[in-house]
Amino acid sequence: MPALNQTDFTFKRTLVTTALPYANGPLHLGHLTGTYIPADIFVRYKRLRGEDIIHIGGSDEHGVPITIQADKEGVSPKEIVDRYHALHKAVLEKLNIAIDNFSRTSLPIHHQTTQEFFLDFERRGILIKKVEQQFYDEAKQQFLPDRYVIGTCPVCQFPEANGDQCENCGTYLSATELINPKSKLSGNTPVLKETLHWYFPLGKYQDFLETLIESHANDWRPNVINYARTWLKQGLGERAITRDLSWGVPVPIQSEEAKGKVIYVWFDAVLGYISSTKEWAQKQGKPELWRTYWQQPDTRLIHFIGKDNVVFHAIMFPAMLKAWNDGNPDAQYIIVDNLPASEFINIEGKKFSKSRGYAIYAHEFLEKFPADTLRYIIAANYPENRDSDFSWKDFQNRVNGELADTLGNFVKRAIDFTNSKFDGIVPADCSLEDWNSIGIDWTQTFRELETLFEEIHIRDACFKTMEVARFANKFLTDAEPWKTYKTDRAQSAKTIAISLNLCHTLATIFSPILPEASEKIFNMLNINERAWESAKLPKLPAGHRLSGSSEVLFKKIDDKDIAPELEKIEKLVQEFAEKEQQKVQQESSQKSSIPDLKPVITIEDFEKIDLRVATVLASEKVPRADKLLKLTLKLGNEERVILSGIAEHYTAEEMIGKHVIIVANLAPRKMRGIESQGMLLAVTDSTGKVRVIEAQDASLNGMPVK
Ligand code: 2FM
Ligand code: ZN
Repeated sequence: MPALNQTDFTFKRTLVTTALPYANGPLHLGHLTGTYIPADIFVRYKRLRGEDIIHIGGSDEHGVPITIQADKEGVSPKEIVDRYHALHKAVLEKLNIAIDNFSRTSLPIHHQTTQEFFLDFERRGILIKKVEQQFYDEAKQQFLPDRYVIGTCPVCQFPEANGDQCENCGTYLSATELINPKSKLSGNTPVLKETLHWYFPLGKYQDFLETLIESHANDWRPNVINYARTWLKQGLGERAITRDLSWGVPVPIQSEEAKGKVIYVWFDAVLGYISSTKEWAQKQGKPELWRTYWQQPDTRLIHFIGKDNVVFHAIMFPAMLKAWNDGNPDAQYIIVDNLPASEFINIEGKKFSKSRGYAIYAHEFLEKFPADTLRYIIAANYPENRDSDFSWKDFQNRVNGELADTLGNFVKRAIDFTNSKFDGIVPADCSLEDWNSIGIDWTQTFRELETLFEEIHIRDACFKTMEVARFANKFLTDAEPWKTYKTDRAQSAKTIAISLNLCHTLATIFSPILPEASEKIFNMLNINERAWESAKLPKLPAGHRLSGSSEVLFKKIDDKDIAPELEKIEKLVQEFAEKEQQKVQQESSQKSSIPDLKPVITIEDFEKIDLRVATVLASEKVPRADKLLKLTLKLGNEERVILSGIAEHYTAEEMIGKHVIIVANLAPRKMRGIESQGMLLAVTDSTGKVRVIEAQDASLNGMPVK
């Protein structure tokens, strides 16, 4: 098998990329959770270990998301991208994201890179030219690519789905699939009109992609593998990589047919990783250095993304690089080695929604609370396997209880006591024996921490790190050096020496997550070295002088600090609920409402029905049956197949991972030659949409529902 993912090599260096956010609005919690914070934690950890690693990113400045914002504000796309690129950059600096280059896709170096790929593919006969029908706004005399069309999502019935993707259920759509499509420009129903475009034959790379994905079946997150497999199973076909737009990378062909067309934003955005690395290399005064990171097989490539970007990084970008590599033996690009895609972070239990204004913006957050607290709350709630939640109360509790009362309190007590009672000097040696006898297994602790950071288990790494702080805090409280100071000064000195060394260890292991607080600790300790290895052993000898300063690491958050935030959220939720209610009322007045109740049954009748929680392991459409999905379910230790008539309401991939309720003792029934071993519980809402009933989580699997 060819070395697809460099598993044959020992990696010498790492290239980390973070998905390029559109420069059409401020960065929000979703951007930070999916990309910047986990990436920065990983990069900072690797740097502490002395590894060669760069973090590359930038703003995504093309595409319909930008032009729509410009239309909305009545300004030029350039004005929009200039404004938001500057804001992105400022926020990343404030958040202490140690990114090596934050580029822009509107730069000439990026246009050249994108056009080079396009032309290479065009010259080598890879691209296909096709005339197809697309939506056109007659009033505005303009084609309507992607998000210029809105309509009802055919999958979840969300009424404001975009022509490229439904914000509500995440499904990728093409505009012509929308129900009741409308032009965003004029509000009119668009007409279909023929237009020529260049297509990339993604299907040609099916085998390559299947091998790539399967080679990572055990080391990539299950959500990424499942999602990629679903795409591969559906077949990849050909994807249009040009658009009728004036803003973007122009199609680099001098002909009438290429006029007024630009390259599709996703084709150019992923290449932004390469052009940003080129820009970085130029800034280093070593313009060829980018090749070391992109074209040396001993570099490891890791893309940090949100789960809505999986297809572009697991399928599209690798296929583009493979297409390039096939024709350019002297300039072979490396292919992604890891794709840590996060799930989504909800806010106060509700789905984030930019279009409804239900979001927390980073720059607003950072005006009120320190960067480290935001980094911490995201790390502590990092949605690795399932969506997680941000709540202001949890934020307050964690900052007060974990950062202030545990880490901050410990460090302050140790430093202040040294300053006041021991003249700011480490009062004793902390021998190896002392270090190993305080009740923590350092070898095991570091082994666990290293595994968690290396494998990008951000939430667990954060938890484990805080556990060390909890241990330190308890050690100091239990040892009571303020008491022994009066009765056994040597003992008190020893406790303080150990505690100061614990401060050093904590400063080091926390520095990927809390760089600002860690720097403060290092400075108070008067230590210049920052190295992971040095945290494993006592570092501060007797006689070492601290800097003399003493800082409060974290200020506690009062109820009044978060009250305005809670109010804001409540108002938004209320507004949204009111709108929803109006909608439901409107709809239910149009439809006949709740069906009549059935005749009464006895408890014995009811007890005959065995309702259980089962988890959907696999899901596929039943050929030639529009309404049926074939679901493979895990029920305790058993696997069973159920056919369900929900295919018009759920895509196959949407069902995977759901914990559904089934009638487990229903007599099996054959449909389309397949035996269905039970039935799913579902409810039809007032709009006619069927929704399956779900249980909270996997721990309930197999359990009876009563
Ligand atoms: O979803 C988004 O916000 C895209 N702008 C992400 C692009 S990621 C990469 F391709 F640059
Ligand atoms: Zn949808």
